[in-house]
Formats: sequence, C-alpha cells, structure tokens
Amino acid sequence: MNNLIIKNLNKSFGTNQVLYDINFEVKNGDFVSLLGPSGCGKTTILRIINGLETADTGSVIVDGKDITMVPVEKRNIGMVFQNYALFPTMSVAKNIGYGLNIRKKSKEEIDEKVNWALKLVKLEGMEDRKITKLSGGQQQRIALARALVIEPSILLLDEPLSALDRKIRAEMQYELRNIQQKIGITTIFVTHDQEEALTMSDKIILMNEGVIEQESDPINLYNYPNSIFASDFLGKANILKGKLVEIEGRWAVEGNGWIVGVNYKEGKAGDNVSVAVRGEHFNIETKEFEGSQKFEITNKVFTGSVCKLLGNMGKDEIEISIISLDAEKYQVGDTAHVMPTLETTLYFQ
Ligand SMILES: Nc1ncnc2c1ncn2[C@@H]1O[C@H](COP(=O)(O)OP(=O)(O)O)[C@@H](O)[C@H]1O
Ligand SMILES: [Mg+2]
Repeated sequence: MNNLIIKNLNKSFGTNQVLYDINFEVKNGDFVSLLGPSGCGKTTILRIINGLETADTGSVIVDGKDITMVPVEKRNIGMVFQNYALFPTMSVAKNIGYGLNIRKKSKEEIDEKVNWALKLVKLEGMEDRKITKLSGGQQQRIALARALVIEPSILLLDEPLSALDRKIRAEMQYELRNIQQKIGITTIFVTHDQEEALTMSDKIILMNEGVIEQESDPINLYNYPNSIFASDFLGKANILKGKLVEIEGRWAVEGNGWIVGVNYKEGKAGDNVSVAVRGEHFNIETKEFEGSQKFEITNKVFTGSVCKLLGNMGKDEIEISIISLDAEKYQVGDTAHVMPTLETTLYFQ
C-alpha cells in the first residue's frame, strides 16, 4: 500500500513559482530520495509534507488520510533538518524526548522510548551529555533519534549527511539505511548528491527547477536517463551533437568526424539530436574493430578504481573510463579504437 501520496503540488513564493504540478507516491517502508540541484524545491516539498509550509494547490495523503489541512503538531511525521536544529542547552535525553514531551506523554513512557531510540542510534549511556560536547556524527544520530522517538508514520530527512566528513558520511549512509530497514519506516531523503541517492534508495525522484524530471529505481535511472539533464546529473556523461541517419536499415548518429550506432527511439533521418554516453559505456581496444571510431588520447588520469582517458573522437572531446588494470595498455599520444555500447547509447531530440 502507498503510505504517502502527493497530488498536484504547486507553490510560489511571491511571484517566484518554485514547484510545478508535483505528483508522486511512496510505498510503505520504501526509502525514496528527492534528488536535484540546490534550489530545485526539495526542502519546500518536505516542509509541505510535514506542515511547516502550505502549498498553493494540491494535497498530501498519508495512510489514506488527507492531511493537507492538519497542523504540524497533529501530523505524525518525523523530520531531521539539514542543520539538525537541536536545542544546544538541553541534554541529549531532553532533546530526544522533546516530541514526546509536547505530546504530553508520561515520564515513564518518555524514558522508555528515549532509551529505545538511544540504543537504535548506538548512543547508549549518552543521555546526560550536552549537545555542544558532541561530534557532528553524534549530533546527527541525536537528530535522527529525536525524529524516530515519536514513532512517525513517515520519516523526512533533509540532506542529513551533508555536514559530515567523507568517512563518517559513508558509515552513516550505511547505518541510516540499516536503521530504516530494521524499523521499516517509510523515508523520504533529500540530497543533491547523486552518488548518495544511487547508493541508498529504493527509488529516486529526480528534480530540476521545480519539476520532476524522472522517477525510477537507481539502476534504471543511471543506465537509461530520459533527458540530457538526467544523464548529466546522475554521473558524468559525454554529450555530443549530431544528426540521425539511417544506414542499411540501422540507425546511427553522425557527428563531427564520428558515427555511432543507436537504438531507434523517435525522430527521422536528418533530425538534429544529442547523444549521451557515459564514460564507462564505451568498448575500447588498441586495434580497430567493426564499427569502431578513432580515439586520440590526450590525457590520462588515474583515480584508483578507474582510469580516465581524455581525448578526441573526430572533432569532439570525450572522456572514457576504463578499469585500472587496463591502464597500461593506453598512453597519451596513442590512437585507440572505441565504440559506445549500443544498449546504453541514448539520443535526445
Ligand atoms: N521562505 C521562502 N521565501 C522565499 N523563497 C523561498 C523560501 N523558501 C524557499 N524559497 C525559494 O524556493 C526555491 C526552492 O528552495 P528549496 O526548496 O529550499 O530548494 P532545495 O531544497 O532544492 O535547495 C529557491 O529558489 C528558494 O530561494
Ligand atoms: Mg534544501
């Protein structure tokens, strides 16, 4: 069953419209990411879901109930804010118990649930500490515990990991996902980091300037983006301009000194199109092969797990990723031979 349904949200601040007809559904227990560049409207959607902001049109439905007009404190939604928004003068336990306190729960119940939440985020024994004495990662866990302690039907996370350094961030990604799966809570996670969204999500909702561009599971979104924006935002893509041509019943795109096969989608011969090919979606050989294009290597960058080869295919500059084990086969100044894999070479009108 769908635990959350968002229908036709539109929102303007003054004359600035920031959301256009937002519609999506989240299944019970799913982890869904709202992904998009800064300013595309992600936080505004979360704030409308938890009631801190009202939409101009549209509705929010949770567990089959329309809560669009329900005030914040009556909604059973937990939120972790981007800056955590903890109360610096209160102890860890008081921070976590805050939501239960304003819901007028008994002291026994508050103690019991705070302990449960502390254990969940692996901070047992820390209840009396001051917030200011904690590391960023610990504060993040407290904010998560505070959101979960009210046993919300939906958890909203607004870029919760963006302030953490790389290593702790990777640990927290793993732990957050673990906790989410353990208690099976429906979660909406906001991020502008494509790798984070790809790693963590059951589904990604990709946004651009107040509009949903594409909604899909991570693998499909990465391999089969349906726009230039999506192909470029989800990881670097080579985007090349050319014309659609038909050769002996097969479709290809002809560009500036290169021609590559594509699967037919739409359009007609002669149409101007753009081709998007990810760096790792090229076949590369030292010798010519059927359909291959010349690739003159101008730069080679070793990054550890992959090696990047920069160079020219015809008059266009492209970047190809190869596994590091093959790095020695290709040197700057060499001409290699490449062909984008037909399956993942997409073109857009
Ligand atoms: N309270 C507000 N008043 C005026 N403009 C706002 C307000 N909140 C957000 N905006 C504008 O709405 C747009 C979307 O903001 P936001 O939802 O915060 O984006 P994101 O979280 O994707 O970075 C931005 O252009 C932002 O400046
Ligand atoms: Mg934001």
